[in-house]
Amino acid sequence: MAQLWGGRFTKETDKLVYAFNASIGFDQKFLAEDIAGSRAHVKMLAKQRVITDVEMNEILAGLDSIEKDVNEGKLLITDEYEDVHSFVEANLIDRIGAPGKKLHTGRSRNDQVALDMRLFIRKEVKETDELLKKLLEVILSIMEEHVDTIMPGFTHLQKAQPITLAHHMGAYFEMFKRDRLRMKDIHERMNYCPLGSGALAGTTYPLDRHYTAFLLDFYGPTENSMDGVSDRDYLIEYLAALSTVMMHLSRFSEEVIIWNSNEYKFVEIDDAYSTGSSIMPQKKNPDIAELVRGKTGRVYGALMSLLTTMKGIPLAYNKDMQEDKELSFDAIDTTKGCIALFTGMLSTMKFEKDNMLESARHGFTNATDAADYLVNKGMPFRDAHGVIGELVLYCIDHGKAMDDLSLSEWKAICPMFEQDIYDAISMETCINKRLTVGAPGRQAMAQEIASYKKYLQE
Ligand code: ARG
Repeated sequence: MAQLWGGRFTKETDKLVYAFNASIGFDQKFLAEDIAGSRAHVKMLAKQRVITDVEMNEILAGLDSIEKDVNEGKLLITDEYEDVHSFVEANLIDRIGAPGKKLHTGRSRNDQVALDMRLFIRKEVKETDELLKKLLEVILSIMEEHVDTIMPGFTHLQKAQPITLAHHMGAYFEMFKRDRLRMKDIHERMNYCPLGSGALAGTTYPLDRHYTAFLLDFYGPTENSMDGVSDRDYLIEYLAALSTVMMHLSRFSEEVIIWNSNEYKFVEIDDAYSTGSSIMPQKKNPDIAELVRGKTGRVYGALMSLLTTMKGIPLAYNKDMQEDKELSFDAIDTTKGCIALFTGMLSTMKFEKDNMLESARHGFTNATDAADYLVNKGMPFRDAHGVIGELVLYCIDHGKAMDDLSLSEWKAICPMFEQDIYDAISMETCINKRLTVGAPGRQAMAQEIASYKKYLQE
């Protein structure tokens, strides 16, 4: 057990207590961040004449060699150390002796871990954003290819009105675009440096917190040292944003599962992204989509867990906060993995255009347009709604689609129908007459696609 704090103790820590307390098993993920923070800290200490330039250079060289040896597998991070901070400091002292003991001057593990976590999350926020961008590129390419691919749009999972696949995909483009905006917001709010907050009350050394913030690419130092060591809001925001990404992916997955079902056959998931059954030879299952949907619960769980951990913690640092790590790492890996896999599945998925069109044609998706036809001929909408309701009932009784009715059948329901009703309720007319901003009509879609293209180029 290599601990940093033996001085005031007369007994060894109980082995179980040691293991319960230690975080090395998971915070070793922070090695790069911890060393980067230490580099900035010693440069600042030297600039402020708290240590000499010679000491600084020895410490920097020692830190470099530790990082290199770990990366090359020559130095193992073992549970002999309590946490990654102790691991680095103890190895530094082993390697360079006396100057190594000055590394922790004017610093506490509280501001150190607060910094490590921020650096780590800042990087993850950026990587999440990049993965979302790739997903948006795939969605946009499907949109461009399917401006004229007609499918039913649903409400209550009942066929509602005809739309296009481009239009449907555009809805997801919007969701993931907002998810990217959330990443940007989080970055803007979190990009302040807690280093120099000390244990909670700053330090008596003349630390230049602006300088360390600058070296580590932050906008500036955090403004209150107690908040600096105990703020985990940015992490809660990030977990909330990841939960929202997962919620979007889960809805999308649910649709893919429905579309891929034998009953719908709107899509075929590529063999590389499907799995078989051990007993039923005919099966090709959408496991990836199901797993994405399933893993959503894990990410929500992390958010609820951290909110609950934080809710009763008095200022400033308390050990409860160590619990922020494992659940966050899991939620981050899960979400990033899901975005990447979903992107792969989507980019290889085949859309069965004919089945989509057939489905849109049957199910009265053009009923609203038939009512609008009567409105254009002067009938009030509420009355037209009633007439078309009767017509639909007639079709159901006779096993027909509206397009299959003869003109005399139309006229029997309402004499205002003329030959042009067929064109008025064709799928193409139903879609292309919808010209309002954000609607599926060809012109409106062209505008939407142009704006998404521009957005992705920026
Ligand atoms: N492993 C600790 C954490 O993750 C590091 C900070 C320890 N600070 C302390 N006062 N024990 O929170």
